Amino acid sequence: MRRKVTVVGAGNVGANTAQKIAQKELADVVLVDVVEGVPQGKGLDMLESAPVEGYDVRIAGSNGYEETADSDIVVITAGFPRKPGMSRDDLLLANYEVVKSATEQAVRKSPNAILILVTNPLDAMCWTALKVSGFPRERVIGMAGVLDTARFRTFIAEELDVSFENVTAMVLGGHGDTMVPLVRFTNISGIPLSELTDQATIDRMVQRTRDGGAEIVKYLKTGSAYYAPAASTVEMVESILKDKKKVLPCAVYLGGEYGIRELFVGVPVKLGSKGVEKIYEIKLDQQERAALQKSADAVRELVEVIKSRI
Ligand code: APR
Repeated sequence: MRRKVTVVGAGNVGANTAQKIAQKELADVVLVDVVEGVPQGKGLDMLESAPVEGYDVRIAGSNGYEETADSDIVVITAGFPRKPGMSRDDLLLANYEVVKSATEQAVRKSPNAILILVTNPLDAMCWTALKVSGFPRERVIGMAGVLDTARFRTFIAEELDVSFENVTAMVLGGHGDTMVPLVRFTNISGIPLSELTDQATIDRMVQRTRDGGAEIVKYLKTGSAYYAPAASTVEMVESILKDKKKVLPCAVYLGGEYGIRELFVGVPVKLGSKGVEKIYEIKLDQQERAALQKSADAVRELVEVIKSRI
C-alpha cells in the first residue's frame, strides 16, 4: 500500500521537505498552506518533475485538510520564520496559534498519524501539538537534534578535512541558545574528537553550532534556514516509514528521563514505524547534566507563557 505524508506549510522548509520525500519515493505527499494557490502551484510543479526525476509518487496541494485523510505522517512546518535579530522565542505566540489550528485540523483527518514538528520555537510547539492532539508521546516528535547535530558534524568535518559521513555527534537539549553539544560523545570513525583537535577549536565549533541557525538568518535577512532543516526532517520521515530504527537526537516528551518531566527536550531516541520506540537515557557527567537542565529550564519558561494564555 502506498504511504502518505502531509506537509503543513508550503513555504521554504515545507516545499523542500515535500520534494525530498518525492525524490526518495518515500510516500505520496499532500502540501497544505493557508495561502491560496501556493500549495497547489508548488505541488503541481513538483509533480511535473516526476517524469524527469523518475519518481512515481503523487503530490497534491490544498488549502484544506480533506486530501490529507489517513496520512501516515503529518509534518508541521507552518508558521513564521525568524527575521534578523529575532530569537526563536520571539515567534512563540504567533506560531502557537498556527500550530494549534494545524494540529487540530490534521489529526481530525489522520487520527493514527505520527506528528513531526518543525515550527519554532520547536520544543514549545511540540508541547502544543501533544496537548492539542491528545496523541500518546510516541507519536509527537520534534525535529531539532538532527539539524543541530548536522551543523556540528559539518563544522567538524570541515575543520579536520575529513568526510562529513565519518563524523558522529550528539547535540541534546532544547532547540535554542542553550542546546548542549556533547563533545564526549562526538567522534570521527570512532576516534574521539578531543584526540584530533585542541580544546579552543572544539569550543569555537560548539559555539558556532549553538549559533548555527542565527548564522543563516544573518545571511538570508528575510527568513531562516531550510535546506538542512528539510533534509533532517526527511531523515526522520524515512526512518519511520521504512522502520529503520535509526538512533537520532529528537525532541520528545520526557516523563522523568534525565530528571526532566512534562517537557519536550532533545535526547537520543530510536525512530521506527511506531514513532519513538525507545528513549536512551545515557549517563551524563555533572557538567553535562547541569547544561541539559539549564536548557530544559529555558523550554519550561516558554511553555509557562503558553499555559498562561490558554
Ligand atoms: N496553516 C498552514 N500554513 C500556514 C499557516 C497555517 N495556519 N500559517 C502560515 N502558514 C504557512 C505560510 O503561508 C508559509 O507558506 O507556513 C509557511 C511558512 O513558510 P516560510 O515563511 O517559508 O517559513 P519556513 O522557512 O518554511 O519556516 C517555517 O520552520 O524552521 C522553522 O523557524 C522556522 O517556524 C519556522 C518554520
